[in-house]
Amino acid sequence: MCGIVGFTGAQSAAPILLEGLKKLEYRGYDSAGIAVMDERKIAVHKVTGRIANLCEKTQDGLGVTGMTGIGHTRWATHGAPTEENAHPHLSNDGKFAVVHNGIIENYLSLREELIHDGYHFESETDTEVIVHLIEMFYRGNVREALIRTTNRLRGSYALGVICSEEPGKIYAVREASPLILGIGIGENYFASDVTALVNHTRNVIYLEDGEFAELSSESIKIFDCSGQAVDRRPTRILWDVQAAEKGGYEHFMLKEIMEQPGAVKATIAPRIRNGRVAFEELGLSAEELQGIRKIIITACGSAYYAGCSGKYAIEKLCRIPVEVELASEIRYSDPIIDEHTLLIVISQSGETADTIAALKECKARGAKTLAIVNVVGSSVAKLADYTIYTWAGPEIAVATTKGYTTQVAVLYMLAVYIAERLGKIEGKEKQLIRALQDLPRRIQQAFDLNSSIPALAKKYHASKSIFFIGRNTDYAVALEGALKLKEISYLHAEAYAAGELKHGTIALIEEHQPVVALCCNPSIMEKTLSNIVEVKSRGAEVLALTFRNNQKILSVADDFLFIPDVDSLFSAIVEIVPLQLLAYYVARENGCDIDKPKNLAKSVTVE
Ligand code: G6P
Repeated sequence: MCGIVGFTGAQSAAPILLEGLKKLEYRGYDSAGIAVMDERKIAVHKVTGRIANLCEKTQDGLGVTGMTGIGHTRWATHGAPTEENAHPHLSNDGKFAVVHNGIIENYLSLREELIHDGYHFESETDTEVIVHLIEMFYRGNVREALIRTTNRLRGSYALGVICSEEPGKIYAVREASPLILGIGIGENYFASDVTALVNHTRNVIYLEDGEFAELSSESIKIFDCSGQAVDRRPTRILWDVQAAEKGGYEHFMLKEIMEQPGAVKATIAPRIRNGRVAFEELGLSAEELQGIRKIIITACGSAYYAGCSGKYAIEKLCRIPVEVELASEIRYSDPIIDEHTLLIVISQSGETADTIAALKECKARGAKTLAIVNVVGSSVAKLADYTIYTWAGPEIAVATTKGYTTQVAVLYMLAVYIAERLGKIEGKEKQLIRALQDLPRRIQQAFDLNSSIPALAKKYHASKSIFFIGRNTDYAVALEGALKLKEISYLHAEAYAAGELKHGTIALIEEHQPVVALCCNPSIMEKTLSNIVEVKSRGAEVLALTFRNNQKILSVADDFLFIPDVDSLFSAIVEIVPLQLLAYYVARENGCDIDKPKNLAKSVTVE
């Protein structure tokens, strides 16, 4: 995610800001910038690409005078990674500079309003509305302007703000996005995480949601949204820098697994407006949607399995046939495609070679192309006719987790979006929108229900091989669950459609063979139950993934993973969470290099 730093003190700010930004590099970014205040003037320096470019541009900060400033590393969400879109953003009168981490959900309506009121925009970012709002509300009191501004914002934000009329002061604001204040001697700081602070101080204050802070070299004042002072005790940081980068988690993968409620919310919430799914980025007219005869989803790896889950929701709601094809296969298969085909390409990185080739091939044959991508401005995003970003934030662990779930979230939203525009879900819209909005909470509940996973991992980690079975939507999740396990724990894991067991795989079931059985789809529960009984009677050890109160399954399986109650149409996104955790803890038991599994790459840019 984006990173924020702020400094005020009695030494040159720019070198300290640059050093702080370097410490935040691990979070992922594609552009960077600083704003430094000297006397009553704010100077902004921005670059695309690496912090090294910013160091070069500012002579390692020595070419910038001023002892108060803010800095930012940007991971593009709204608008490509360009200098214009990089932070800090300036107000039209040049008095304010702002850096922002998070997403402003209502930025489009605010932008329209501000343009109408005569404000001029330099970037495509959601952030820029903030700085213009501050200018609009400023009447000589920055605190008041910040409170009035945040009253207008919906979404998540950590903000760093400087004002040329208040030399020596930096302001910080937090709402659903991390921000930590660092207490120095004769100088103070803020940053998105403690890695950027620990070289200077280990005494910090964790700002809480809805709180504001005013920092000068000598003081830190915290206040709430009514301007009332808040008293907060400092905390002493005991972590080493490496642990701090991972937010205290042992591995990036675990951190990213735990980030999923937030990532899925960031993907869904801004796109639900007035009780409908709104995809501004999808320019297909109602007539063009009516003309779609077939949807092809293509991708590689987990993105392909996300497509497998999405297929069920799209077919069920839209009644349009969906084919899910491996990108490495479709590119050489002489696919049957015409202008009535909608091709959906899914890629976290947007740089997977086979996925790019498949997209080019299908586009050349006349398909309308839509990309679901996490990395803004990536090759897939540029090549497709339309792009919907997943806004998962950067993923550092090689095995994808939040990348996958946010892809599934977009596919669910797309299913509702297309079905609604085709008039296929009349009377059901509200219920479906509620179910979508509820998903982040359900994912969180899946964490809470599965505290036994580390113990289960101890039981199963030495197995030679684990089978995953499920039907329908459960089968799609089984495929991703098995992939996660083999990727990071190097255990042999295979997923089978449960109904196929009798056609071969059952020959491999013997005493103590672990079978993970996914039973989360009530419409075919009885069928999967029969398959569980079949493998049990041949000696298998069954680890069932199901609802907590599912008595039938509870009475036959040996061990359990649980999901909360969730609409079966959208359950895949919740079901995968315990399976990710299982893979993680099994790999941990086996002492594997979880974030960088052997032989695998995060982005496969060769065929
Ligand atoms: C690699 C990664 C997987 C990913 C796949 C597709 O195999 O290790 O985690 O699912 O590539 O990558 P993409 O960036 O296109 O989603």
